[in-house]
Amino acid sequence: MRQLFRGLLLCHLVAFSWAQTPPDPSQDSVLDYAPKTNVECPDFSTTSLIRQFTPSNQTLHPEEVDFIAHRTEAILPHWQDWLGDGSNIGYDLKAFNGTYSKIGLAIPGGGLRAAQYGAGCLSGLDARNESAKAAGTGGLLQVASYLSGLSGGSWVTGSMYFNNWPTIKDLVYGNGNDLSGWLLDIPFVTPDGVNLFSDDNQAFFGSVLYSVEAKAYAGIDTSMTDPWARMISYHFLNQTSRKNVFTNDTAHGAGQLWSHIPQIPAYAQYQTPFPIIVTDSRPVGSNLTTSLSLDPVVYEITPLEIASYDPNLSAGMNLTYAGTHLSNGKPDNGSACVTGFDQAGFIMGTSASLFNQLFDFARNTISQFSTSDAAGLLYVLSRQLREVRTRADDVANWPNPFNGLKNATFEDSDATWIELIDGASNNENVPYAPLFVKARGLDVIVTLEGSSDDPINGWPNGSSLITTTRRLQNQLRPSHQQFPPIPQTPEAFIEAGVNARPTFFGCDPVTASDYPLVIYLPNAPPITGDNPVTNTATFQLTYTPKHTRLFLDQVNFNTISGFTPNANTPDKNFGTCLQCAAFDRARMKATPVLSRSSQCQTCFKQYCYDPQNPPNKSELPNRKLQFVDPDPQGLTKLSDFFQTNKLKLLGGLSGLIAFIALLVGGLLFWRRRKDQQQQYKRVSALHDDDAPFRQYHGRAQEESYEMPTQQGGNY
Ligand SMILES: *[C@@H]1O[C@H](CO)[C@@H](O)[C@H](O)[C@H]1NC(C)=O
Ligand SMILES: *[C@@H]1O[C@H](CO)[C@@H](O)[C@H](O)[C@H]1NC(C)=O
Ligand SMILES: *[C@@H]1O[C@H](CO)[C@@H](O)[C@H](O)[C@H]1NC(C)=O
Ligand SMILES: *[C@@H]1O[C@H](CO)[C@@H](O)[C@H](O)[C@H]1NC(C)=O
Ligand SMILES: *[C@@H]1O[C@H](CO)[C@@H](O)[C@H](O)[C@H]1NC(C)=O
Ligand SMILES: *[C@@H]1O[C@H](CO)[C@@H](O)[C@H](O)[C@H]1NC(C)=O
Ligand SMILES: *[C@@H]1O[C@H](CO)[C@@H](O)[C@H](O)[C@H]1NC(C)=O
Ligand SMILES: *[C@@H]1O[C@H](CO)[C@@H](O)[C@H](O)[C@H]1NC(C)=O
Ligand SMILES: *[C@@H]1O[C@H](CO)[C@@H](O)[C@H](O)[C@H]1NC(C)=O
Ligand SMILES: *[C@@H]1O[C@H](CO)[C@@H](O)[C@H](O)[C@H]1NC(C)=O
Ligand SMILES: *[C@@H]1O[C@H](CO)[C@@H](O)[C@H](O)[C@H]1NC(C)=O
Ligand SMILES: *[C@@H]1O[C@H](CO)[C@@H](O)[C@H](O)[C@H]1NC(C)=O
Repeated sequence: MRQLFRGLLLCHLVAFSWAQTPPDPSQDSVLDYAPKTNVECPDFSTTSLIRQFTPSNQTLHPEEVDFIAHRTEAILPHWQDWLGDGSNIGYDLKAFNGTYSKIGLAIPGGGLRAAQYGAGCLSGLDARNESAKAAGTGGLLQVASYLSGLSGGSWVTGSMYFNNWPTIKDLVYGNGNDLSGWLLDIPFVTPDGVNLFSDDNQAFFGSVLYSVEAKAYAGIDTSMTDPWARMISYHFLNQTSRKNVFTNDTAHGAGQLWSHIPQIPAYAQYQTPFPIIVTDSRPVGSNLTTSLSLDPVVYEITPLEIASYDPNLSAGMNLTYAGTHLSNGKPDNGSACVTGFDQAGFIMGTSASLFNQLFDFARNTISQFSTSDAAGLLYVLSRQLREVRTRADDVANWPNPFNGLKNATFEDSDATWIELIDGASNNENVPYAPLFVKARGLDVIVTLEGSSDDPINGWPNGSSLITTTRRLQNQLRPSHQQFPPIPQTPEAFIEAGVNARPTFFGCDPVTASDYPLVIYLPNAPPITGDNPVTNTATFQLTYTPKHTRLFLDQVNFNTISGFTPNANTPDKNFGTCLQCAAFDRARMKATPVLSRSSQCQTCFKQYCYDPQNPPNKSELPNRKLQFVDPDPQGLTKLSDFFQTNKLKLLGGLSGLIAFIALLVGGLLFWRRRKDQQQQYKRVSALHDDDAPFRQYHGRAQEESYEMPTQQGGNY
């Protein structure tokens, strides 16, 4: 049986090689995923790649300060577009001397559900969307200063920037011109359907591996996150269209760098907020495969830096040179720098690197993913492991720029690599940390809450907010603002109904600086009582075009509609109320403080959460909680299309998966055993994080391990 599968695999690898067209390296190509090593470093007598600060004297990167100053100026006309002269919300805008609230948006994780939920909300807050504009909600996006994303939320965030900040309609569906849309009906992992050995899937895997191996040959250890990063790039970056998925005609996003965001026209003209991606870290050596406690460092990645404002680190590194091993802030020598490591796909992949909790060693699979997605990923990993050196396979491996720094408090100070994982690994699914940093001084934080919490129907239940409240109190008190009052348990959150309609938290602080006002826009059943189509599973990695369209429309409608107590109709006033919430801190910051207008008082009675007098979910009648597939026909069609007869030759999908599981299981097992066996010094040295930093070489493959002779015997 095993021999048979092995034979078939080899046979297929050979048989399909003719179909593959190598990329032209003189053009933009998938090879551009490889970072450049041995690059000339900047002159360290005049400059540093590391910025350090303390919680009590926290600083931002000077270019961030500069960007925000320009952005603040650039949004003044947008405030006027949105609020007019202010009379609609009961203020005279002219009297505020241009000092308004500073606003940030947060888009949490949850795969394509969260990405689409984030997109639908953005369209509902975007003045360029006609229905949002008409409702008065469209305009908030134009006055925001920050946008943070995590995991699936990082995909929509990255996609907005790397497509030059288009409308959601153009971004998701394409514009028939230079934007091709997200192509969510093309499966992420196996774009040609479940048969891993179809010509097209093989060509696709070939491209993905070509990128990843190019990075490894540059001397930088890879992991499962790298092929994952490449797959994400095909959908969310701008070089893949329906016509070129199975070609090497473009780079499919390879070579697009996060540190190049400042060159993107919309950003350069201050038409966008400042983007920040959140990723967690697994303490090196812990090998954790469960969720994290609240202690490990939470990192943020901006176009300028990889940094952490956690009190125990309080440092950032120039993102252009990420991938460079630094010790006490210095590389080995003046030409030991690395650039091009900050691939946009890899940043989004790092934030969504959830494999350490999902590799199921006992059953040799990746739990939660669909059978075919898991099989595809393991298959790619198995080929990767045979070709190149990897490090911890289940995390995103980053050379540690902070080695030697803050050694009294930074837990990975002595590590040469850091292990970054999904931004929600500590159960904070909303990327709040950067937005609560004291030095950023945000007044309003808008949460586009697409989390799936409730285990039955997949609606949010406040648990991310509760977790963040605790981390801000216990771990981040010196460095971050605090969370406003919220219901203290998920049960209380649900009972109050604040997870099922827009809610404003923190409306009445004693002073404007107690905490920011949180505008919470949860994924919720349609207010109309229609069937919900937006509470889909995190690991659903394919959507029919019809489902995506209905999904976005449903989210857009809820976002612009607010709610009417004890009814199923939109609140005509919601646009005004959202404007009141966005503006309220400006009123508090004015000298003298102005009292809240009567319009806004009425709004706040309905939308603010008052801990003394919590609302009740009974105000939200006839909501349907259970997901109803809006396009079952479409899904059947898709899967019919993927069910090819070729599969039968391979003994069916389950046989194939058993085979791949064996292959990968064997490799992982071998590797782990190798690491323990001292006679394989070279391999263990390569994976030994305490080993002195090794120089980069031209081709790591020459020194990478060979497949063990037992391998054949294993099958
Ligand atoms: C792209 O080129 C690589 C290297 O030759 C190959 O392995 C891969 O299959 C090619 N992909 C496509 C889609 O032709
Ligand atoms: C705070 O840090 C900045 C930049 O490192 C430094 O210039 C300034 O002197 C520090 N201020 C205090 C009060 O320590
Ligand atoms: C705007 O500036 C004027 C003149 O400096 C001042 O009187 C007024 O209080 C300011 N308004 C606010 C809201 O701070
Ligand atoms: C697509 O990305 C490339 C590389 O970043 C860029 O040059 C091009 O302008 C982008 N196109 C659009 C429409 O944003
Ligand atoms: C983590 O794995 C490494 C390499 O296999 C091993 O040396 C180390 O002891 C492990 N750590 C823990 C806490 O199990
Ligand atoms: C990164 O370093 C280079 C070289 O010193 C410098 O030109 C660039 O401005 C730095 N970027 C940031 C964001 O600090
Ligand atoms: C921490 O760093 C300081 C200054 O670089 C050094 O003197 C000290 O030995 C280090 N401590 C440890 C435990 O490595
Ligand atoms: C910060 O460092 C101190 C000293 O090592 C340690 O006690 C504390 O647990 C660390 N805090 C976090 C959040 O890791
Ligand atoms: C709330 O969500 C968490 C996951 O985030 C889940 O474990 C818990 O069971 C949920 N509780 C309720 C009451 O829905
Ligand atoms: C505005 O949003 C609605 C609802 O999702 C959508 O149908 C429409 O196409 C959007 N318009 C633009 C310009 O994005
Ligand atoms: C919410 O309303 C329902 C029905 O009116 C009532 O049974 C329940 O006790 C209320 N919950 C709270 C916390 O007041
Ligand atoms: C500097 O370091 C690089 C890579 O670490 C190495 O290849 C190179 O030989 C070193 N150069 C000098 C002058 O030591």
